[in-house]
Amino acid sequence: MASSAPGGVVIVGSGLIGRSWAMLFASGGFKVKLYDIEQQQITNALETIRKDLKSLEEAGSLKGSLSVEEQVSLISGCSSLQEAVEGAVHIQECVPENLELKKKIFAQLDSIVDDKVVLSSSSSCLLPSKLFASLVHVRQCLVAHPVNPPYFVPLVELVPHPETAPATVDRTHALLQKIGQCPVRLLKEVDGFALNRLQYAVISEAWRLVEDGVVSPTDLDLVMSEGLGTRYAFIGPLETMHLNAEGMSNYCDRYSEGMKRVLKTFGPIPEFSRDTVEKVNQVRDAVCRSVPAHACHRWAPPAAGTSALEVGDSSFLTLPVH
Ligand code: NAI
Repeated sequence: MASSAPGGVVIVGSGLIGRSWAMLFASGGFKVKLYDIEQQQITNALETIRKDLKSLEEAGSLKGSLSVEEQVSLISGCSSLQEAVEGAVHIQECVPENLELKKKIFAQLDSIVDDKVVLSSSSSCLLPSKLFASLVHVRQCLVAHPVNPPYFVPLVELVPHPETAPATVDRTHALLQKIGQCPVRLLKEVDGFALNRLQYAVISEAWRLVEDGVVSPTDLDLVMSEGLGTRYAFIGPLETMHLNAEGMSNYCDRYSEGMKRVLKTFGPIPEFSRDTVEKVNQVRDAVCRSVPAHACHRWAPPAAGTSALEVGDSSFLTLPVH
């Protein structure tokens, strides 16, 4: 059984999300051990993290009060899971989105951890009841789902297993706040968690509007980026309702009949047919050809002289936000 000295965080899986978590925890002054099944992945990850932190510093976007060198020195690689979890207070799993693989990792962790460390999964959509089924340490388990790119998007959804101890959620919430993220608690698990349920509701109606020929793909995206999105970047839909009238009750009195009338016209779940896929694809391909090549790859930290948002804007064009 691993001993438990305070402070250490373990990242299991050093891909895109694992590296982001490592950078965030190091920015908050935590010692981080990066574990991966591939030694080369660990070596590459440490190198990429150093370069990314340097670029962030040059762009004035480095998080935390520590220098790049200080943050880099907090992160080390480890090719033994048993050694990695020694002294850990938090283990963040970041292996590919595959239920059987994740279950295997958590079963391994279950057999080597103490009864204090938090076992957290970055899963985008696997339910805690499936991920943590029959683990001895189930009370210490939860999903902490980040949003890509986690270094710039603070939200993390905390999703408990029905048997997760409230203290596990509280500790994770406090830890993530400490590193500058914005954790939210789901009080029970639901397929898609909260972010993707909202995202899919938007995608679904966006698709119908384009498929039905109501609006072009370009103008549909402008409705969000120049309209609804600018509002929702600052306040949520419930706050908007409250502020758009004299309080929530007044909003519902005024607008609920209209909302229900429109909602009744929403069609069935889209089939995401090839015809509409092609129609949207043509437009998106044209946009991608007109922005720099680096912006059409997965998120990379901003180059010197650009702000995070400038780069973030173009990167988001092709970025899957899980
Ligand atoms: P990735 O493919 O970039 O990285 C996965 C890493 O896990 C690789 O380094 C791989 O070598 C390692 N790995 C594979 N098997 C392993 C094992 N048995 N033990 C240890 N390491 C192992 O994947 P990515 O994108 O970082 O995703 C990781 C998790 O984060 C997934 O569950 C994904 O759904 C979730 N997530 C992904 C987001 C995204 O936009 N990419 C956003 C939010 C969550």
